[in-house]
Amino acid sequence: MASSPRLVVNLDIAGPTISRHIYGHFAEHLGRCIYGGFWVGENSEIPNTRGIRNDVVGALRELRIPNLRWPGGCFADEYHWRDGVGPREQRPRMVNSHWGDVVEDNSFGTHEFMDLCEMLGADAYVNGNVGSGTVQEMSEWIEYLTRADDSPMAALRRQNGQDEPWKVPFFGIGNEPWGCGGHFRAEAYADVARQYSTFVRSHNGNEVYRIAAGANADDVAWTKALMEALPDKGGADRKPFPYQGISLHYYTMSGHWDAKGSATEFTEEEYWKTVKAAYHIETLLSAHSTMMDVYDPHKAVGLVLDEWGTWWDVEPGTNPGFLYQQNTVRDALVAAIHFDSFHRHADRLVMANIAQTVNVLQAMLLTDPESGALVKTPTFHVFAMNAGHQDAAVLHTHVDSGASHEVDGARLPTFTASASTKDGQVLISVANLGLEDESEVVLDLRGGELEHVEALVLGGDSVAAFNAPAHPNAVAPRPLAVKEREGQLVLRLPAHSFATVRGTLAGQAPAAAAATAAVATATAAGSKPCLNC
Ligand code: AHR
Repeated sequence: MASSPRLVVNLDIAGPTISRHIYGHFAEHLGRCIYGGFWVGENSEIPNTRGIRNDVVGALRELRIPNLRWPGGCFADEYHWRDGVGPREQRPRMVNSHWGDVVEDNSFGTHEFMDLCEMLGADAYVNGNVGSGTVQEMSEWIEYLTRADDSPMAALRRQNGQDEPWKVPFFGIGNEPWGCGGHFRAEAYADVARQYSTFVRSHNGNEVYRIAAGANADDVAWTKALMEALPDKGGADRKPFPYQGISLHYYTMSGHWDAKGSATEFTEEEYWKTVKAAYHIETLLSAHSTMMDVYDPHKAVGLVLDEWGTWWDVEPGTNPGFLYQQNTVRDALVAAIHFDSFHRHADRLVMANIAQTVNVLQAMLLTDPESGALVKTPTFHVFAMNAGHQDAAVLHTHVDSGASHEVDGARLPTFTASASTKDGQVLISVANLGLEDESEVVLDLRGGELEHVEALVLGGDSVAAFNAPAHPNAVAPRPLAVKEREGQLVLRLPAHSFATVRGTLAGQAPAAAAATAAVATATAAGSKPCLNC
């Protein structure tokens, strides 16, 4: 018989810091992500600032999104940045052959992207072109973006209206080189990554964190090849490395690539297969991290999961190349499972980017192409409710799921959780993955006490509930009661729901909390990304 889930949280045992960058995002020139999603142009009736939708920026600012990856994805390896700078009416057109075979007019380019990042308060993660570009092109892009003096590219940037160099902390060396990025073999790409990275210079104090394009899901051999190619293995200082991070891509689906399943109409069996696929992220992060440990025990090289999320069949009647899908409570639970795993791997995982921010795959926001109406998805709310984990220290926890569900021979815990602390505050995330029953969850807090406790719960009438312009808050956070019982906290979690509990550590002197906060702010404000510390 199933017992209640129990979460032991050791409030006095803090582990590594959860990089805020694991709450990162991805925006590709794909379907209606950039065009219609972020960018409507200055003459649009939709309220905008220099062409960028005000409502989208406003909503995303609620998430405190730490970084935004652009322009792809597969698109990055056919994108030539010079086509996207200078007077818009003179920009050349191209065919976006990966995504819908549509004509791209380059009206959203480097300046528009950097403007967007500034509006969002997000760091730029620019992904360069290896597949169809050149070393010179990549080298000149980072010069254009970040150089301060009168170098040729800095002069060109000024001519195009931007005097000051931008900060670009993150730069990707191609994308999925094993596939759309050029069908490289691992060792061949590793050499190319070394070569291209060399020419992505850190100009005048803009220290670039270069990210070599990593493995597809279980392909640990790819990670091995990239680690083996590092010249100075095991050094605690990441400086000698040509690239500082290695990426990984993993998508969750209930079926397979040829039949991924519907976003909104799914059976219980498909739901549990999705949960199983989501839990697989734990295996992947462990496997790739362990491989990296062999070569880099000091964890100087970061693991960057720069594409993750659900991938369903497109909504009926939409362009198959635009990857537009609805987003239900199931998607929210997939996100919750991923974040708990990310927190457990905070020592190696330095960044993660959900695919993608608006109107594509597991989006935060969906915009209606006719009315322009904006809807926040269930996944948006998980990001918002979990935002307090950014740059917080992971707390040591023990999860006793109480119940499990068998899927294809695997027993899946029906309860998942994680916890962190920062500035005297504690944030606990919990999810009931079960479809039938409400769960009484016991939070067994040890090594301290929490005061001013409050909780939010996210769920819906069914696990397939979603938000749409006609019912934008069908799935939205609501207050949840937390009771104290014999020194423990108890909450009743509805079936298929996600909740966060926050509280203040009792006895935290306000001055001490303020000092911790000041240090954290100073670290966050530094120009060098402190990803792995
Ligand atoms: O996110 C959609 C696509 O998925 C990206 O362009 C590509 O990198 C991946 O295959």
